[in-house]
Amino acid sequence: MCHRIAVIPGDGVGREVVAEGLKALDALAAGISGLAFEYTMFDWGSERHLREGAMMPADGLDLLRRMDAIYLGAVGDPRLPDHVTLHGLLLPIKMGFDLYVGLRPACLYPGVTSVLAGKKGGEIDLVVVRENTEGEYADLGGIVGQGGQETAVQAGLFTRRGVERIVRFAFELARTRRRLMTSVTKSNAQKYGMVLWDRVVREVAAEFPDVTAESRLVDAAAMDLVRRPEHYDVSVASNLFADILSDLAAGITGGMGVAPGASFRRDRGAPGLFDPVHGSAPDIAGQGLANPVAAILTARMMLEYLGEAQAAEVLHEAVRQNLREGRVRTPDLGGSASTAEVGDDIARRVQELLTLPDRAS
Ligand code: NAD
Ligand code: IPM
Ligand code: MN
Repeated sequence: MCHRIAVIPGDGVGREVVAEGLKALDALAAGISGLAFEYTMFDWGSERHLREGAMMPADGLDLLRRMDAIYLGAVGDPRLPDHVTLHGLLLPIKMGFDLYVGLRPACLYPGVTSVLAGKKGGEIDLVVVRENTEGEYADLGGIVGQGGQETAVQAGLFTRRGVERIVRFAFELARTRRRLMTSVTKSNAQKYGMVLWDRVVREVAAEFPDVTAESRLVDAAAMDLVRRPEHYDVSVASNLFADILSDLAAGITGGMGVAPGASFRRDRGAPGLFDPVHGSAPDIAGQGLANPVAAILTARMMLEYLGEAQAAEVLHEAVRQNLREGRVRTPDLGGSASTAEVGDDIARRVQELLTLPDRAS
């Protein structure tokens, strides 16, 4: 099957890691009969903004709408304010297409050393489910007044529909895993949106008697994720809280260089968006230092979304092998290989796996 993929490398290391993800996808397409990708490259991002005054064209979403999926690197450039660039490219896709499910798995792979002492590969395996379209990211507020009178209002939006659909998704996901669903809020301090959130969790929990539901305050959850990450299975939280928790989860499972992400809606009414958890990492951009594993595992999530289970599994195995052997890795994981060398190693493993008799299709 031929999948139409919109490719948006974006800014900084986004460009470097997406190139390696495409290498892996090409290796899969070369080795699996019937699998093909039609890439449409979009040169959208901060360079375009500096040149033309906008991150993407006015009809950008219409161009993306006809695609099956969007593969994105990262957005953000020190020469432009982040709230301008992110509200010009990444956030309009999630919001405009109502891609309400944010999926951010964090797994400590064998061969990767956690910053937490004594954690072994396989011991941390959790998923942060992020509400992607409302909460603290709702574009609700403004700045009024001048000088000493300047006043900003930044409101959070929590709708029953919005909370219910993401909470239900999290429960269903937990059902396919270890059957533990942790909802993370701050309803002791935030007495409207988060109180509604907690109430919806209790109601939906009644539909899932086979799943253990627990509720934690976000400060305690952050502490507990560090103290005993192995406890966690599926955790669901608002847009901002899950954003923070997903970087934390990445931090204890090898760092930003290995953390993949996906955003989609369940009815597939718009293309899913696949981008790693990390940003454009201006501190290491352009030097071949970025770890492409996060972007490659993100490509694996895209394959699963597209229904290409075999390709997804081959790619996963190639990454697992690379991490387990630990010979070709970037400096963030203690190695000295470049971004491209890691990408080449994983693509070669894909090729190899596909020529083994039990893997060929
Ligand atoms: P970041 O994720 O870019 O970087 C945080 C740290 O992780 C840095 O030390 C960086 O070097 C490291 N890192 C990130 N990706 C890495 C990789 N692939 N391999 C090895 N190390 C990696 O976060 P930041 O510095 O807060 O943000 C930089 C810019 O990216 C900002 O403009 C921010 O708004 C933007 N941002 C964009 C996205 C996105 O497009 N999805 C996500 C997060 C941040
Ligand atoms: C992410 C990023 C974005 C987010 C920012 C850059 C707006 O941090 O993808 O996690 O918070 O959604
Ligand atoms: Mn983030």
